[in-house]
Parts: sequence; structure tokens; C-alpha cells
Amino acid sequence: MTTATEPAAHAPAWVRDIAPYVPGKPIEELARELDLDPAGIVKLASNENPRGPSPKALAAIGSAAAELTRYPDGNGYALRVALAARLGVPPEAIVLGNGSNDVLEMVTQAFLTPGDEAVYAQHAFAVYPLATHARGAKGVEVPAKRYGHDLPAMRAAITPRTRVLFVANPNNPTGTWIPGAEVEAFVAAVPREVAVVLDEAYDEYLAPADRSRAIGWIGRYPNLVVCRTFSKAYGLAALRVGYGVMDPALADLLNRVRQPFNVNSLAQAAAIAALGDTAYAEESARINREGMRQLDAGLATLRVESIPSHGNFVLVRVGDASRVYDVLLREGVIVRPVAGYGLPEWLRVTVGLPAENERFLAALALALGR
Ligand SMILES: Cc1ncc(COP(=O)(O)O)c(C=O)c1O
Repeated sequence: MTTATEPAAHAPAWVRDIAPYVPGKPIEELARELDLDPAGIVKLASNENPRGPSPKALAAIGSAAAELTRYPDGNGYALRVALAARLGVPPEAIVLGNGSNDVLEMVTQAFLTPGDEAVYAQHAFAVYPLATHARGAKGVEVPAKRYGHDLPAMRAAITPRTRVLFVANPNNPTGTWIPGAEVEAFVAAVPREVAVVLDEAYDEYLAPADRSRAIGWIGRYPNLVVCRTFSKAYGLAALRVGYGVMDPALADLLNRVRQPFNVNSLAQAAAIAALGDTAYAEESARINREGMRQLDAGLATLRVESIPSHGNFVLVRVGDASRVYDVLLREGVIVRPVAGYGLPEWLRVTVGLPAENERFLAALALALGR
């Protein structure tokens, strides 16, 4: 409760009205709350990679730790050069972020002023409305079509006030995915004065033939920002490192609002090593495919509806999700409620290692009495 004399009362209404982001419950928190052994808790709540990080990334962190007294390279030179070589773009086309979230924030900071509009889909990633509202801009939420993005409707939602448009592909939390040809036709149809953010945080989990080629389009679309992350298939969520690829003129603009040392030196070193360890990312995708099959089979046995997912998570319809969530917690299994996404009957479950998936399925069977 704030009173008129407190500083918070004088913050812009659009900031005070923001509903804070609710992260997945940390293992230590559940252990404290229910007096459980943290080692016995399974966390399938934040779409993290269930394997440990790449040993190459760990070794790189060890070496970089000797330089902790120094500020990181504010330009992220070596990481941008490594990414540029991998992606076939000039280093000037890459903006590094403290997680790809940071790049999403930079786009809104660079383009949105109060009264401007950003378009995103119903049930799309929570950070789009958050970052939009933090600028005093208006979020235009376009109804989903079969839980996924309705691109023609999103195109139709563009007005003269629209400055930014977000597309998550695959989308979190629904796991829906749109083939590249459809996405490109959509990008081509968006007016050039609207920045299109194509958020590809889960691209590495797609079958190789389905992986996005959108980075190859940036020469044609000076308003396109393609976001990727090291948090998922590359297993470095705690370090916070992601990037956006875009026309160098657009990158120059984003760099003006970027914090000078936004990506720390351990993250930069680990990301370079992880990028070089392609076997790790491919193995992560393989483990994910197997885990997804295991979950799909288990859910079918339990007669639980789910949405076919292209990410490292799956949305399951459980009815009274808050009750089922609580039962799962008591069984030491943390998943993610998604009522805040307008999906009160659903829970989102990250694909874990086989034993973790089994723990989830057993706890779900208990919760549903099946
Ligand atoms: C669709 C989507 N985009 C972006 C992110 C942000 O990831 P990070 O900031 O860790 O790179 C996430 C994380 O869950 C996500 O699901």
C-alpha cells in the first residue's frame, strides 16, 4: 500500500500498473517452504536445460575467472566475432544482451514512447507486454488461433501508432510453431517503420530442416530483429547471455540504449565455448526429443490433453491447475502455472531427464487420481 507522500506514488501510472513477472519457483524456496530435501526436488518450471552445462563452457569460465577484477569487454568483441562467423553476418549486425530478454527490452526502449503501440499474440511470451508497458506504450494483444499466433490478424492490428511487433517462434508457453515461409511472407507484409522482433529462443530444439533461416533475411528487411539465446539448448541460463541479429543501422540504435557492460565476462567466455561445442547443443536437442516422446506417451496414458510442442516444454490441460500445481509441489515437482497467460486450466512442464519426466508423470497421476 503506498501513500501520496511515498516516492512510489509519483511513479508513472503505467509502471505502477505493471503485474510483475512471476518466475518458476526456485528449488531452494520449495525446500524451505515444505521442509523438503532440495536434492529430491525436480524443477521443470523454467524451460531450462536439464543437463549440466557443456564442460567446455565450464572450463572457459574457470579461465575467465582470473580476470574478475576487470570490467568485461563492453563491446563483446570476441563473442560477436564468433557468432558472426557462425551465422554468416557481420559482427556489426549483432547486439548482445543480458539474456535475450535484454534485447527485447532494448527494442522497446529504442522505439516505444507513451501512446505508441506494440502488437503481440494472446498467450505469447510474458516479457512482450511487460517491456511494452514499462515504456508507457499500449500493448495490442491479438487473439490466438489454435493457441498460436494468428499472423494475418497481427498484420491487420498494425495502426499508424504501431512501432514494434513481437512473434515468438516457437512460442512460449504454448509450444506452437509457424513454418519459415509463412513467417517470411508476414515479415514482408509489415510496414518498414514497424520493428519486427522474431524471438527464436527455442530454435535449436527444432528438427534441423525446420530451423529458422530468418537471419538470412535481415539484408532484405531493415526492420527485422532476430533474437536467440544461450539459456536453452546451450545450457547457460544462469549466466544471462543472448543476442539479437539485425541490420547494422538498427544494431547501432539498440547499442545506444544498451547498458555499457550488459554481458559479464564469464558469460561471454562461456558463450564462445558453448557455441563451439555444437555436439552439446545437438545432444540437448536429442535428449529433448526423447523426453518429449516420453511425456507425450505418459500424458496419453493418463488421458491428459496437451498441445503439440516444438520447444523444450509442453502445455498440459489439468482442469483446476492451481490445485494440481499444489499437489505436484507437495510431491517435490515444480512446474509452471500459466493462468497469467490466460490459460487457467493448464500447466507448463519443461522436458527433463527421463527420471524427472517419470517423477512428473507419477505425481500428475496422483494429483488427477488416475
Ligand atoms: C520465448 C522466449 N523468449 C525469450 C526468453 C528469454 O530468455 P533469456 O533472457 O534467458 O535469453 C525466453 C525464456 O524463457 C522465452 O521463452
